[in-house]
Order: sequence, then C-alpha cells, then structure tokens
Amino acid sequence: MKKRVILLGPPGAGKGTHAKSLTVAMHIPHISTGDMLRDARSRGTELGKQADSYMSSGALVPDALVNGIVAERLASETNGYLLDGYPRTIAQAEYLSACGEKIDAVVLIDVADDVLIERIVGRLSCPNCGAVYHRTNMPPKVSGKCDACGKDLVQRADDNEVTVRQRLEAYHKQTQPLVDYYDKLGLLSKIDGAGSVEDGFAQLKKVLEF
Ligand code: AP5
Repeated sequence: MKKRVILLGPPGAGKGTHAKSLTVAMHIPHISTGDMLRDARSRGTELGKQADSYMSSGALVPDALVNGIVAERLASETNGYLLDGYPRTIAQAEYLSACGEKIDAVVLIDVADDVLIERIVGRLSCPNCGAVYHRTNMPPKVSGKCDACGKDLVQRADDNEVTVRQRLEAYHKQTQPLVDYYDKLGLLSKIDGAGSVEDGFAQLKKVLEF
C-alpha cells in the first residue's frame, strides 16, 4: 500500500471528500493546508491574519507561510499521510523534497472547470467536524444540519463564483505544472473525478493499492 500520498487537483475536484474516506481505509492522517489555514484564520493567529486576504481573493498564500506549517506537521507523522492541497507550487514541491519526504504516489483528480464551479458554489461545510456536503449532489439528511454532528452547515467564504474563478486561474497557472513535475519523477497517476463519488473512490483504491 502507498503510504505517503499527495492528492492533486483543482478546487472542487473532490480532494477533501475522498480524503475523508481514504484516511479511514488507509489508516493515515489527512493533512489539508486549506483546513489548517482556515483554522488559523478562525482562531485569529498571526498566520491566519497574514493568510486571510490571499484566501478571500482566491490567490495562493505565499510559499514561505505554508511551508512552515507543513514542515511542523509532517515532522510528527511517522506512519504516512495524505496531503490535500499541498504542494501547490513547484517551490512547495521542492521544499517538501528538501525536507527529506519520500512521496510514494501523487494522484491527480481530473475534472473540467464548468463542473468544478457548479460543485463549489453548491458546497456546504460543517464548521465543527469538517464534513462536506452539496446542496443537490450530496445533501445532508436534514436540511442545513450536519449528518455527523448536527451542527449548522455553512458556505465557505471563498465558495462564490467570482472567487472560484480566481482559484481556478491560480490552479492552472501555479499548480498544474506539478502534474508534469511528478510525472517526470514517475509518481503520477490520474483518475477521472467527473463521475460519482463511489466511482472516484474505486479508481483511487486501484491506484493506491489498498
Ligand atoms: P483548499 O481548502 O485546499 O481549497 P481547494 O484546493 O480550492 O479545494 P476545495 O476544498 O475547494 O475542493 P476539494 O477538491 O477538496 O473538493 P471537495 O471534496 O470539497 O484551499 C483554500 C485556499 O487556501 C486556497 O485558495 C489558498 O488561498 C489557500 N491554500 C491552501 N493550501 C495552500 C497551499 N499549499 N499554498 C498556498 N495557498 C494555499 O468537493 C467540492 C464539492 O463537490 C462538495 O460539495 C462535494 O460534496 C461535491 N463533490 C465532490 N465530489 C463529487 C462527485 N464526484 N460528484 C458530485 N459532487 C461531488
């Protein structure tokens, strides 16, 4: 089984959705830089304050800020991990490698831009346990309430159409070059993320060999 895994893909591809199931099936922790930055922002830490304007506008947070939090977190993980949303630039990938991290697999979840916008604008998130829903594709059992913990669901501040377009632009310019980067290292697999969640998970199971 591959134990040190990067999930690569545009906003709304399903990284977070699949990561929640993969971490249970593979017994490895889910490390999401987006979640870490949102947490820092909601606690009002110095990092959160510095990251806020970038996140709100749909831009990437500077490499130096993100690298710092990831290095700290990975240092405590000895049994593998599932990285979601990191690395997102060539500089971040080079930093990860310079930290001595040996990645086993990188999986690109491929989905077309028009599908992504519809997914993100309809997304509902639980601020308490991090569960993710969709107004039409994956609605909660009780409208507006998290199935897992019962808290009120919210729409992420950056899940509006204007910001999503900026996030997609940042993805194509700054993150897509990682596809070639990891392909050249022989680590890249690609799955089609446009179908159902079950179909995406079945493909992940195959490429990650669990
Ligand atoms: P981050 O939180 O990482 O957001 P993202 O990459 O834009 O990804 P998303 O969380 O939007 O999408 P996802 O792929 O997880 O999709 P999900 O599974 O939720 O980053 C946010 C911001 O933080 C960035 O813009 C940046 O500013 C900053 N940041 C974070 N990391 C950084 C880094 N390394 N460097 C610099 N800056 C960084 O699915 C989306 C919706 O679709 C859900 O509603 C879901 O229910 C639905 N759905 C999912 N799969 C399916 C399916 N197969 N069929 C139907 N619906 C589906």
